[in-house]
Amino acid sequence: MHKISRLAVLTSGGDAPGMNPCIRAVVRTAIYNKLEVTGIRRGYQGLIDDDMYDMGTRSVSNILNLGGTILKTARCLPFRTDEGMETAYQNLKKHGIDALVVIGGDGTFTGALRFSQKYPDIAVMGVPGTIDNDLCGTTYTLGFDTATNTVIEAIDKIRDTADAHDRLFFVEVMGRDSGAIALRAGISCGAEAILLPEKETAIPDLIENLKGGQYNKKSSSIVIVAEGDKNGGAYDIAKLVQKEVKFYDVKVTILGHLQRGGSPSAFDRILGSRMGFAAVNALIAGKNQMMVGLEANHIKLTSLEKALNQTEFRLEEDLIKMAEILSI
Ligand code: F6P
Repeated sequence: MHKISRLAVLTSGGDAPGMNPCIRAVVRTAIYNKLEVTGIRRGYQGLIDDDMYDMGTRSVSNILNLGGTILKTARCLPFRTDEGMETAYQNLKKHGIDALVVIGGDGTFTGALRFSQKYPDIAVMGVPGTIDNDLCGTTYTLGFDTATNTVIEAIDKIRDTADAHDRLFFVEVMGRDSGAIALRAGISCGAEAILLPEKETAIPDLIENLKGGQYNKKSSSIVIVAEGDKNGGAYDIAKLVQKEVKFYDVKVTILGHLQRGGSPSAFDRILGSRMGFAAVNALIAGKNQMMVGLEANHIKLTSLEKALNQTEFRLEEDLIKMAEILSI
């Protein structure tokens, strides 16, 4: 176990509300424990470009309420190469950095794990920061709660106008490989159907379902489509359905990146604070190549390898079934 004296923090991949409270917790917990802290801008890109700065307690003042990330973020292809990793390593050594907290999703953790296997003298600790809620070893990822609430607020408004006009709306939400937002938002807004990347929905079944809604005198219908659904995007699906469902006027709304912005919810501020605090304490305790998660309201460490194991990750079948029943 090597003793840490300078720790660096970065955010990488898609930003998520709650990243800033987490950065604040990392910086202040480290300083409380007499460690020096470096902030790296634009994720792994900043590591390669040597874009870093010293952080103090005041450099994270008044950021709890801010969406996005004060450290900025990027999806960095050069970090996937040996040359990119070597440059990043040399920059870390130059600044005397011996531990790294990475806040991000699966792509971020894949990079962190590879890097740390290649350069074992740099300890790494992951914090799950992604609105997608798709990592093993944590019930919630940072940003998922805020993003879901943002989606709910938007769909409630869509429901008003859909109902006023007797319309069928297809609302596309984020989640290239993850239906977590779609499912929670669908339950919360009483969607008539929820299309998830993890579970194939046959279009004829969807049409039957919507016809049933008309028979049951529903004045509007909302279908939530996670962007990674195998049938295509919301526009493609709407076209197929409109051919068969004449009784509704069909409209499409793509919520897009507004789902990633906004002030973090209380839940995400507390989660970010807890996870940042725990990440630094875990590094001080000599832990490495792990992710900080929250399970049964307790902080739990999971190996990065396990966190990335998608075969262990399952969307809750019981919630899917419940959503179907409650929307009859
Ligand atoms: O990973 C989070 C996420 O918001 C996904 O849900 C979405 O598919 C993706 O990022 C979009 O990425 P970008 O902002 O790079 O287009």
